Amino acid sequence: MLTMQFDVAETAGNRLAPDVMIDVSGLSKSFTIHAQSATRITALRAVSFQLRAGECVALTGPSGAGKSTLLRCIYGNYLATCGTVSIRDQKRGTVTVTGADPREIIALRKDTIGYVSQFLRAIPRVGAQALVASPLVELGVKEAVALRRAAELLERLAIPQKLWALPPATFSGGEQQRINIARGLIADHPILLLDEPTASLDAANSAIVSELILERRNKGTAIMGIFHDEETRDRVATRLFPLQAA
Ligand SMILES: Nc1ncnc2c1ncn2[C@@H]1O[C@H](COP(=O)(O)OP(=O)(O)OP(=O)(O)O)[C@@H](O)[C@H]1O
Ligand SMILES: [Mg+2]
Repeated sequence: MLTMQFDVAETAGNRLAPDVMIDVSGLSKSFTIHAQSATRITALRAVSFQLRAGECVALTGPSGAGKSTLLRCIYGNYLATCGTVSIRDQKRGTVTVTGADPREIIALRKDTIGYVSQFLRAIPRVGAQALVASPLVELGVKEAVALRRAAELLERLAIPQKLWALPPATFSGGEQQRINIARGLIADHPILLLDEPTASLDAANSAIVSELILERRNKGTAIMGIFHDEETRDRVATRLFPLQAA
């Protein structure tokens, strides 16, 4: 069921309420384009919300509204101009991404946040199965176990077995996207950020991805995503969070 709801930050000091996984408070992001006589583009203006375990919040809004920018600020790719992003981390308690040093961001990504970007960044010479397995290997899981888990995901996502050993650079757009999804899902992170995970997939593959997202949601993963097609959004989202152009 989809409901519209706006959150109000409830954080007391640096602590998050028990089931809150992400707290975004007064987040703004502007870009200064120096090559264009310092043109300033505001992508996000005073955005606040909370994301809880077991929710899947769909970010909506027109192209350019700042949806991808918001996910990148949460993942620590973009530095916020003002406001805070706080994340619940199993090992470190509450981590404030805005203000964290690069080492903390790397640790947060390893243990807590899975992120599926719209496009795969292929690593030359690394085969698809190894690429999918690598987040688990980084967590200390034995390589053979990680490769087996990667194989299960690749099978579910209907990637032909003859491709598994090949680097994905030459794969089709939809194949690359499914590799990206498998890589983002393999480590069972408690938080999952999804930027248009089904954008270049056909209906059958979108349905498989929706199933995988729902499985994670039912396990209690806190999910925030941008879903370009309404069918996927209606299937996986528990509520919408609309962003207006800033
Ligand atoms: N690295 C960047 N440098 C400069 N401007 C940027 C950068 N990233 C995003 N922007 C600008 O911020 C605004 C929001 O972009 P963003 O990609 O977040 O939009 P979006 O809502 O994801 O759009 P779409 O639905 O088209 O993917 C745009 O005007 C974009 O030009
Ligand atoms: Mg986008």
